[in-house]
Amino acid sequence: MDVFRVTGNGPLRGKVAVSGAKNAALPLLAASLLSADPVRLRNVPDLSDIRFMIEIMRHIGAKVIQTEPGIWEIHAQELTHIAPYELVRKMRASVCLLGPLVARLRKAEISIPGGCVIGPRPIDLHLKGLRKLNCKVSIDRGYVHVDAAKIEGSPIFLGGRNGSTVTGTANIIMASTLAPGQTRIECAACEPEIIDLCHMLVKMGAQIEGIGSPELTVTGVDTLNGCTHSVIADRIEAGTFIAAAAITRGDVTVTGIAPKLLSAFLDTLEEAGLPIELGADFIRILPYTGSLQPVDLITLPHPGFPTDLQAQLCALMTQIEGLSIITERIYPNRFMHVPELQRMGAEIAIEGPSAIITGASQLSGAPVMASDLRASAALVLAALAATGDTWIQRIYHLDRGYDQFEQKLSAIGGHIERLSDTVMPKELLAE
Ligand code: EPU
Repeated sequence: MDVFRVTGNGPLRGKVAVSGAKNAALPLLAASLLSADPVRLRNVPDLSDIRFMIEIMRHIGAKVIQTEPGIWEIHAQELTHIAPYELVRKMRASVCLLGPLVARLRKAEISIPGGCVIGPRPIDLHLKGLRKLNCKVSIDRGYVHVDAAKIEGSPIFLGGRNGSTVTGTANIIMASTLAPGQTRIECAACEPEIIDLCHMLVKMGAQIEGIGSPELTVTGVDTLNGCTHSVIADRIEAGTFIAAAAITRGDVTVTGIAPKLLSAFLDTLEEAGLPIELGADFIRILPYTGSLQPVDLITLPHPGFPTDLQAQLCALMTQIEGLSIITERIYPNRFMHVPELQRMGAEIAIEGPSAIITGASQLSGAPVMASDLRASAALVLAALAATGDTWIQRIYHLDRGYDQFEQKLSAIGGHIERLSDTVMPKELLAE
């Protein structure tokens, strides 16, 4: 298995271009199954999650061809309705195939994805939405079976205990594009990736009103056509590089990203005192002297502070003098990065859904273990600010969601190497 060796090396400097968003590309790939015509997707990031999704789409009958780097063509003339456990378990986002299969084939059988280290990942709201659309939904031996022979539009309230659901909203929008009648979704997720999905569906001939708002109206049509669509920029990747620049007091311009996709995150950093310059499609982090201010924030559905940047902010706050409080409202147990940051010298206490961080700590390199995608990124950030070498194991988690991560980080001066764990000193290897 690969590991990273990261060596703290002072300020990052230069420009880094953002790739297409994983969390937009996955539902867009699924949406391409809604038409028998070819769909061409541009700006698709090169990630292991994308490769898993394509593997499942091929398994259910789609022809998925890469025509150029970042460009994929999907031909979904004939599909089958079964997505098996051995493929779905590799990536829980494959659940967003449910909506397209229900819409196209009027039936679906998909293995229920399990939880993951960030906490339980229920799909009850997806199923509630499908039942409201007059589908028969049952669960048997780990699979959800949907019979959508009598699917029809309906009002649906899609909110849950923790607010809206992103892939649940994607599924219900996609299912209702081809359902007779009108579907009004209340408490729809407003994430930019959902907006991007709606824009592509409209290009395909779907009728959707209220795009970008928590109330969407979808009027079903008979068929959808093909289209060409470019995946929006990855705001979480952009935020990760911004945090990397800040933790090293660097001067980094992140390009290809509209600042309004990251308003809550940028606002938090500006409140902390980080000098930031904004352009139409770039964000520049400037070096600062003295210290930033601690923060007190809560993760929330968009446009609130994104949970997918919580771990990276935790790493940054270990370097800021004073007491920061980060409360996780989307996944209250998403703190797997904390024990690893503590091993590097961070002072963090977990109180219920909050991390209380006492800064500034002198971090020192250590062997650490990545537990999920964003936790992996947080460990790299901490390593950039630490003295000595940090060995990060299980970086396959990071490969799920960051395109060319170490190449991009090296290009702005980060000392990061991908090595085989066979070269890692034996005494540092975890079991
Ligand atoms: N929830 C329910 N019932 C449901 C669905 C969700 O109670 O049926 C709860 C969840 O337990 C959670 C909250 O609602 O507390 C939000 O979950 P959501 O459904 O919005 O999450 P998701 O669609 O499974 C997407 C991203 C995640 C990101 C979350 C929140 C994709 C492929 N994944 O997951 O991304 O953290 O939204 O913004 O879009 C990541 O990229 O690292 C990642 C985990």
